[in-house]
Amino acid sequence: MKIAIASDHGGYALKNELLPYITELGHEFRDFGCCSTDSMDYPDIAFPAAEAVASGEFDRGILICGTGIGMAISANKVNGVYAAVCHDIYSTERSILSNDCNCMCMGALVIGKATALTLVRTWLSLTFKESPSSKKIAKFKQIEAGTMEVKLHAN
Ligand code: RB5
Repeated sequence: MKIAIASDHGGYALKNELLPYITELGHEFRDFGCCSTDSMDYPDIAFPAAEAVASGEFDRGILICGTGIGMAISANKVNGVYAAVCHDIYSTERSILSNDCNCMCMGALVIGKATALTLVRTWLSLTFKESPSSKKIAKFKQIEAGTMEVKLHAN
């Protein structure tokens, strides 16, 4: 697969640990920055990487900041990007199998290198298959497209 990878300064060191591993797993990547530990704003990096995934130029994105949260929020503002914070193996698997996510976000202040490598290997090994989750995915795409009718389910 072609992977768009990006980090802010907080994720820079972990990103550099992951790069050779992604190649070892047989994937190509482009590093969208940042390129140092100088402080920078994560949306500035999340946006071009997420756009590159949404456009289809890249199959998936891997986005790293301090918590993974800022990257996920920023990336999810781009139509066609479905980003999940992945810090445990079960959520990482489900982000593909239940949600067909195309970006994984990790926090370098939350997990270490060994966990991150395991999560990346797992995430890149999985592909979404049609399942009962498909209709839920179709619905969040309706929300994105502005075509979903608001229905209240409360009493
Ligand atoms: C630092 O800017 C920190 O806020 C960032 O790395 C990330 O944790 C945000 O979600």
